[in-house]
Amino acid sequence: MQNSRDHFGSQFGVLVAVAGSAVGLGNFWRFPYLVGTYGGAAFIIVYILFVLFLCLPIMFSEFVIGRRSQSNALGAFKKLAPGTGWWGIGILCVAASFAILSFYCVIGGWTIEYMYQSVIGGFSADSVVQNQHFTDFSTSPFRPILWHLVFLGMSAFIVVAGIKNGIEKYAKILMPILLVMIIFIAVRVLFLPGASQGVSFLFRPDFSKITGQSLLAALGQAFFSLSLGMGCIITYASYVKKEESIVKLGTYSSFADLGFAMLAGLAIMPAVFAFGISPSEGPSLVFVTLPLIFAQLPLGNIFAFVFFASLLIAAITSSISLIEVVTAYFTEELKVSRRLSVAITSAVVVVTGSLSALSFGVLKEVKIFGKGFFDMFDYLASNILLPIGGLLIVIFIGWVLSKSAVKEELSSGGRYKVPIFGVVMFILKFVAPVAIALIFLNSLGFLKLF
Ligand code: TRP
Repeated sequence: MQNSRDHFGSQFGVLVAVAGSAVGLGNFWRFPYLVGTYGGAAFIIVYILFVLFLCLPIMFSEFVIGRRSQSNALGAFKKLAPGTGWWGIGILCVAASFAILSFYCVIGGWTIEYMYQSVIGGFSADSVVQNQHFTDFSTSPFRPILWHLVFLGMSAFIVVAGIKNGIEKYAKILMPILLVMIIFIAVRVLFLPGASQGVSFLFRPDFSKITGQSLLAALGQAFFSLSLGMGCIITYASYVKKEESIVKLGTYSSFADLGFAMLAGLAIMPAVFAFGISPSEGPSLVFVTLPLIFAQLPLGNIFAFVFFASLLIAAITSSISLIEVVTAYFTEELKVSRRLSVAITSAVVVVTGSLSALSFGVLKEVKIFGKGFFDMFDYLASNILLPIGGLLIVIFIGWVLSKSAVKEELSSGGRYKVPIFGVVMFILKFVAPVAIALIFLNSLGFLKLF
């Protein structure tokens, strides 16, 4: 069974696949509006500190669990801690994948609609008209569902082809294209008159803006953006060969994710300022504000197309990692074929994703725990499943798996030096569990710290 497992073919392949999972709608849609909402540079600094001192060690942990076990997110814990209940984390991981896919694919579908709109010149420079346009589209019962199906179909197609011939192959092509396109947009935007205000918003911190709320938002965003806390990295790492350096892979892909977030900020914030729009527009920033800006630019349709195509690419290389978590679980634990696993996963997401898509319009009044389907899936995943998953993973590495096993894996069996091993272990044992638990309990309202 072990020998028949697929593997990534090259180090570059793993890197682009993991970076592809991390770089997604989180970077291009969520990060800019959070930066806008929580005060610009100060938020970015907190975010960077979380990535470096909290999330990087967690990234290493997931790499250790996946590569050591060479198993899916559930099988990994069965192998590393046999006879215990730790495999329950795997169930959380599979549930979180479904929850994220259920809203992620809907937004993925929106990016296709917006590519289509840029081709037919459907954007308006009038904010009322553009707003109405977005509302009409997102509340309609057909188009969002159709595009969501197209998006899901494309993702499923890649996952069916396997690791080396699917996920790795497409990440190798798509990630460099994404990098070039987003630099292209950022450079264009930086030449807009008035752009410098946006740049200083991104780089001049106002520390009075740091509050408990922004700390929480920054931590949640760091987890989401790096694909942590739900077995995505565990699953990808299980296809990494024993001789690769996982410290290097984890570090490079985290930095790539950070780099793309900054580029996304540079592509979006200066444009927002140049056109005198409020940066704290919220989730609609990318889908309402930017079309407005593109409609006013010379050759704006071309830029709009490139921008939404970038969003689509970023979203697909992430959604395939989510589908892979479930697929790996089905194929290895339930012994079904890869094709059937992907089909079952997609069938479930067709239903849950359609419910999400319809929750903007037809199903607006249907509430579960006070939220529509879309918001409920987002809340369930980001605010509940990811923090619990992340917490259990750091406890597992810090307290359950032996220190020597962690060290052996991080050094790839002694091939590489792990210079700050002591610091990483200290963070994983003490700092990370306490920090995540406090922030989690606070966000649920059990503690009123900040
Ligand atoms: N990181 C991706 C993004 O920023 C989304 C994503 C993929 C994700 N896999 C994940 C988020 C696992 C949380 C957990 O868009």
